[in-house]
Amino acid sequence: MARQKFIAGNWKMNTTKAVAVELAKGIAKAAPAGVATGIAPPFVYLDAVAQAISGSGVLLGAQDVYFEKSGAFTGEISVDMLKDLGVKFVLAGHSERRHVLMESSELTAKKADAIYAGGLILIHCVGEKLEERDGNQTLEVVQAQLNELTAKMDDPDRLVIAYEPVWAIGTGRTATDAQAQEVHAFIRQAIAKMWNPDFADRVRIQYGGSMKPDNAKGLLGQPDVDGGLIGGAALKADSFLAIVNAGL
Ligand code: PGA
Repeated sequence: MARQKFIAGNWKMNTTKAVAVELAKGIAKAAPAGVATGIAPPFVYLDAVAQAISGSGVLLGAQDVYFEKSGAFTGEISVDMLKDLGVKFVLAGHSERRHVLMESSELTAKKADAIYAGGLILIHCVGEKLEERDGNQTLEVVQAQLNELTAKMDDPDRLVIAYEPVWAIGTGRTATDAQAQEVHAFIRQAIAKMWNPDFADRVRIQYGGSMKPDNAKGLLGQPDVDGGLIGGAALKADSFLAIVNAGL
């Protein structure tokens, strides 16, 4: 079946309020219908960006969330707070949270559960480190990260998997089209086993890791690549929109 492509920009810890608003406006003005387009600014700019994209089809996203509903969790942000600001999708398990902030698999699983149970689109990020690829452990690592999805899920439109090989993130090194397709096909098969083939057929699987305007078409042309999670190239409206348009 035809899955609508989903291109999401992850701005990470970048921009200022003024830059964020300008970038959001530039994207909202020119994002084509026909590709789901989303942007995930830093928490502190979510409200301003929500206003900048209001009335457009661009989806507001958050880069992280805490799994508890409310309470004494200094510095944390809940799913309900994000919903209050109009957030539609949230990342869980981004490699920087796993490997820089040292978040455990257990914590990632709880966050993924809270995002999906809260009615939002979950972008669950998976991907192997270089030594794991070199040691032929890619599929094993990816399967273990998929096993973090323990929530009862019945809406495939709200589950998105982002395959992001850690060695390709922010390095300028991209997986080849064939390397991406191989892992994406594996992920779809794994989801078919964890749920069922119809569910798996509708889940979108994004590629992330140095996706740029010049390699987007090839990657997005693979049968199981249904979009992209974009870091560096999402910080300029032109390059981000070129990737979005490659998904048409
Ligand atoms: P990158 O980041 O496009 O800068 O490699 C991708 C990501 O971390 O989601």
